[in-house]
Amino acid sequence: MSLSGPGVDNFPTLFSGGEIRGVKMSNRGVVSPLTRTSATEDGIVTDQMAAYYASYARGGWGLVMTEGVYIDLKYSQGYTFQPGIATDEQRDSWRKVVDVVHAEGVPIFMQIFHCGAINQGNRWVEGSIAPSVVKPKGEQIPRYRGAAGGFQTPREITRNEMSEVVESYAAAARRAIEIGFDGVEVHGANGYLPDEFLTVYTNQRDDEYGGPIENRIRYHCEVMQAVRDAVPDNPVGVRISQTKVNDFEYAWPGGDDDAKVVFSSLAKTGIDFIDCSSHLGLAPVFGTENSLSGLARKYSGLPVMANGKLDQPKDAEAALTQGEGDFVSIGKSALADYNWPRKIAADEARVPFNPGMTMPYATLDCYEAFWAENPTGVPKEKVEARDVTEGA
Ligand SMILES: Cc1cc2nc3c(=O)[nH]c(=O)nc-3n(C[C@H](O)[C@H](O)[C@H](O)COP(=O)(O)O)c2cc1C
Repeated sequence: MSLSGPGVDNFPTLFSGGEIRGVKMSNRGVVSPLTRTSATEDGIVTDQMAAYYASYARGGWGLVMTEGVYIDLKYSQGYTFQPGIATDEQRDSWRKVVDVVHAEGVPIFMQIFHCGAINQGNRWVEGSIAPSVVKPKGEQIPRYRGAAGGFQTPREITRNEMSEVVESYAAAARRAIEIGFDGVEVHGANGYLPDEFLTVYTNQRDDEYGGPIENRIRYHCEVMQAVRDAVPDNPVGVRISQTKVNDFEYAWPGGDDDAKVVFSSLAKTGIDFIDCSSHLGLAPVFGTENSLSGLARKYSGLPVMANGKLDQPKDAEAALTQGEGDFVSIGKSALADYNWPRKIAADEARVPFNPGMTMPYATLDCYEAFWAENPTGVPKEKVEARDVTEGA
C-alpha cells in the first residue's frame, strides 16, 4: 500500500519502494521479528495472531517479518507457546495470517528458527543440542515465560543431527512458501543454533566447524545453501548479529576481518538479503566507518536490513541514505505502535514503546491487558523493565 502525507516528503528514501527477488515493497519499513509466545501449546497459529499480523499490514509497513518459528518436532522449539512450521497442520494454520496480510497488499516473510542451547520451553523433547557442551550464559528470559534460573547444559549435536537440522530448515522453508509466504529468513543471530557455531565461546569444536572464522561460519552457509535450494524462486535471507539474547556484550573477535568472511561467505550461497540485528543500527563497529549492516552491504553486495533503535524517522532515513542498509527493521517501536509507517507519513506522534507492554510476558494477551489498563498507551506510573528489552 502506498502512503501519502507530509512525512513521505520529509523522508523520501524511507517511503521509496523496494524489491527483493521480485517481491515488491511499497516502502523500506520492515516489522522486525518479534516473538510473542501466543500460539497454542502445539505451535498452532491462533485467530488472535492473525488479527495481530493484520494490524501491521494495515499500519502500512513495507514488509512484515514473522516472529521466530520453530522448524522440527525435536530440539528447535525454544519457548512455550511459540508457533511452529514443522508439520502440515502447523503450516496450514499460518494460512489465515498470510491471507490477512496479503489482503492489504503487503508481503510477509517467515523467520525460521532453531533455539540450539537457548531452550526454555519445548513441547516435544527433553534437553537441548548445541555445537559444544557449554552451558549458556545468564538466566532464562522471564518475558518469554522462562522458569527462574539458568539454562540447562546442552549435549553436543551429532553429525547426523547437524544434517537433519539442515534438512529441517529446508523443509520448513518449503512449507512456508507452500502456504503463501513471500520469502523466508533464517534466524542466524542472537545466540541460537547457527550463531552458536559462529561464536567462539559456544563453539569449542576441533573439527571443520570449529576454530577459525572460515570454519565457524560453515554451518550457517550449509543451512543457507539448503534453504536457497529448497525455495529457488523466493527471497531467502539470514539474520546475523554479534550480541545474543543472553549476552549483550559479545563482539566478533576478528572485527572487520570476521565481518568480511561472514558476509562474503553467506553471499556465496546465493541468498538474497542479510538482516543485521544490533542494539544501535547506526553505530560504527570495529573502528571502521560503518555499522555492522553497512559492513554486511559492503562485503555481501546484497540488500541489507539495518536494525537497532532506528525508530526515529530521521535515523531510519539516515541509515538508508548513508548506506548502512536498504531497509530498516523496527522492533520495539513496531510492537508499541503497529501504525508506525502510516503515522510517520501523516506526521503524527507514535505511541512510544513501554516495557509494560511486554510484562509479565511479551504475549498478545499481556499487550491487550496493558492497553485496557492504559488507554493512551502511556502508563500513569513508570513501569520498570524486569529485563532489558532487546533481541530474541
Ligand atoms: C518482545 C521481543 C521479541 C523479539 N523476538 C525476536 C525474534 O523472534 N527474532 C529475532 O530475530 N529478533 C527478535 N527480537 C529482536 C528484535 O527483532 C529487534 O532486533 C530488537 O528489538 C532491536 O530493534 P529495535 O531497537 O528496533 O527494538 C525481539 C525483540 C523483542 C523486544
